Amino acid sequence: MSVGYRIVEGADLRARNSFGVAARAPLLVEIDDAAALPEVFARLPPGSAPLVLGGGSNLLFAGDAEVPVLALRDDAVTVLDDDGAEATVRAGAGASWHGFVRWTLDHGLCGLENLALIPGTVGAAPIQNIGAYGVEVGERVQAVEAWEPARGRFVRLSPRECAFGYRDSLFKREGGRYVVTAVEFRLPRDASVRIGYAGIGEELAASGIDVPTPRQVFEAVCAIRARKLPDPAVIGNAGSFFKNPIVPQAQAEALAAAHPGLPVFPGADAGSRKLPAAWLIEASGWKGRREGDAGVSPGHALVLVNHGAATGAQLLALARRIAGSVQADFGVALEPEPRIVGARW
Ligand code: EPU
Repeated sequence: MSVGYRIVEGADLRARNSFGVAARAPLLVEIDDAAALPEVFARLPPGSAPLVLGGGSNLLFAGDAEVPVLALRDDAVTVLDDDGAEATVRAGAGASWHGFVRWTLDHGLCGLENLALIPGTVGAAPIQNIGAYGVEVGERVQAVEAWEPARGRFVRLSPRECAFGYRDSLFKREGGRYVVTAVEFRLPRDASVRIGYAGIGEELAASGIDVPTPRQVFEAVCAIRARKLPDPAVIGNAGSFFKNPIVPQAQAEALAAAHPGLPVFPGADAGSRKLPAAWLIEASGWKGRREGDAGVSPGHALVLVNHGAATGAQLLALARRIAGSVQADFGVALEPEPRIVGARW
């Protein structure tokens, strides 16, 4: 009798990935209590490197999962300490990200409002260092709790150890080394909001709000996202399919001179610039296009959509053609943002 977990053989993963593509797993282990992880790993076939599935909102099954799949379900949210000005809050890996953001605001805590309405779980958030509207989750993380199977130990990693970058972290770079079990956040109570990112200030101003509360920023972000990004509950997608490419400053300047209207954003350092992949894809003529049931959202060129019966392989083939066009038209390489299971980019 297993305590704290449940094993499903031959699991159907269609409802567990936001693209809604068909995929199966030989073994799915649903883990209610992370303390069961040592026992779960001891029962897996030796040397197996399981796939940890959060909300399935940032991956593409290009084929079946050929390894065991783990799903962590602990969604408990606990206040670890609160000095009146700031609180430390711990959320289990299985908590819904958006539900957690709403919980923080309901408890007078801010700092996550710009990250509203991002699909997925708390446990997945640090892996790709989710970011939106000028905030990345790594800025608010106090520690990430994880199980390290190779060393058979639970660890608690500081933000520095997590090595957060743009859509990047230790967990992404060393895939398989850790299973994230919970995330601790340090959140202030004061209402210092960040509204510099294009679109938010305008959205708030349109409602007559000059000095917004965190709750109003949350609502503005929800409104913008609902308008621009397709809802995975309505049409399968995984949000941005490509990362915004970082290119040398000289290349960005040459491209901007050749293509007036190309927005250019600061990169991580003085010599680099970030280009909007959505602009490049739209300029290459892909926005709104459809090949069978695999398509590009008409609302946002960075989002690939499953109109119904697309397979992961068809979506991947479309993504490759898009990247090929952008490479040919602009000399810029696009890289996928979601994890691709069952194929190499
Ligand atoms: N644009 C187009 N065509 C479009 C959409 C956008 O040309 O169809 C251009 C516009 O010029 C716009 C620029 O692209 O100024 C940037 O667009 P947007 O503000 O929508 O942001 P993004 O760079 O496309 C990133 C994140 C999103 C996040 C938004 C808001 C990445 C890969 N994506 O998108 O994250 O919500 O910023 O901060 O960094 C996700 O990761 O799944 C995701 C949705």
